[in-house]
Amino acid sequence: MVSINENYLNLQGSYLFSTIAKKVREYQEKNPQNLIIRLGIGDVTQPLAPVIVEALHKAVAQMGTSEGFHGYGPEQGYEFLRSAIAVEDYQARGCDISPEEIFVSDGAKCDVGNIQEIFGIDNRVAVCDPVYPVYVDTNVMAGRSGRYNTETGGFENLIYMPCTRENGFAPELPKEVPDMIYLCFPNNPTGAAIQKDALQEWVDYANRHGSVILYDAAYEAYITEENVPHSIYECSGAKGCAIEMHSFSKNAGFTGLRLGYTVVPKELSVSGVKLHDLWNRRHGTKYNGAPYIVQRAGEAVYSPEGKAQLKEQVAYYMENARLIREGLLAAGFTAFGGVNAPYIWLQTPAHMTSWEFFDQLLSRAQVVGTPGSGFGASGEGYFRLTAFGTRENTLEALERIRGF
Ligand code: MLT
Repeated sequence: MVSINENYLNLQGSYLFSTIAKKVREYQEKNPQNLIIRLGIGDVTQPLAPVIVEALHKAVAQMGTSEGFHGYGPEQGYEFLRSAIAVEDYQARGCDISPEEIFVSDGAKCDVGNIQEIFGIDNRVAVCDPVYPVYVDTNVMAGRSGRYNTETGGFENLIYMPCTRENGFAPELPKEVPDMIYLCFPNNPTGAAIQKDALQEWVDYANRHGSVILYDAAYEAYITEENVPHSIYECSGAKGCAIEMHSFSKNAGFTGLRLGYTVVPKELSVSGVKLHDLWNRRHGTKYNGAPYIVQRAGEAVYSPEGKAQLKEQVAYYMENARLIREGLLAAGFTAFGGVNAPYIWLQTPAHMTSWEFFDQLLSRAQVVGTPGSGFGASGEGYFRLTAFGTRENTLEALERIRGF
């Protein structure tokens, strides 16, 4: 008789953002007259930059001609995009990454979820707490997590690295040595950034212990401070221990277009096997490449006009972040983040749990955020607001929160 992957039964509830969407839908059905402002999921609201729209139009027109038609492309991505990424995101920053080390995909979420497939099932996995749920859930699905412990609010085989107010939301090097270490900076959900010397310590730790760091750099475009690295490869020795994932969603508004990439350095080996070869094999087997037209749009991100237009877009969201952070602080909230990241991490008032605050904010102010406990036990008592709303909605939400 057919059986199922029982690891799925270990998953806790539904995916965080699906749970929120369901609650909001139910509320809206009961209260159709109320206008809800969504500052929950980190989805962008600004339209695509003109240079990207132009690149899309051009590529679509090409696809309608016999000379310009493109069928299956290279699974790893077109050379024009891999080169632009290598030059602009890495070599321009002094990181020695070549186009062949870049694997283009349809988004960072898939890569972040799929990358664990090339690692052994017995590997010990370390994650920050709170954490982007995809890192945990995909390891649960693979069978690497062990059972869920309701007392600790975590999985027994995962190594949780608490990121709390006390340690400045910076994970400490774990005493129990993990094999795979997920890091995300600037951080989702806390909005905290990491300084270069602190990241170097992680790289040295991983090299010392033979661990691999899975570095999620989806929010690097939001870095405003000096000395905060945009890539882990700015640290020496990182090519020997780190894989990095990037998104076009947050820096260029591709949440609906879908484009991302993963860097697997050729010198990164485990037990004499190159991880580059394994990921290349996986990519070729399970993936047929991101759409040509979307990759052309991705290429436009790196053009001089693209850079200028997207800088403005990022600045728009960061102004929202400043308004939210300062507005909350002025209203007496304790809030963090929003300086190098589009997320503001606030403490819930009056000792409310994260979900109590979510429910209250939804029913009394019609503002949606993300409960901190949805990201892990250490997120309890916190709440995440995103700066990706429109200016109008951001200001209106602040007004409502103040009233609340
Ligand atoms: C988030 O809200 O944490 C992100 O938008 C989720 C994602 O990028 O998949």
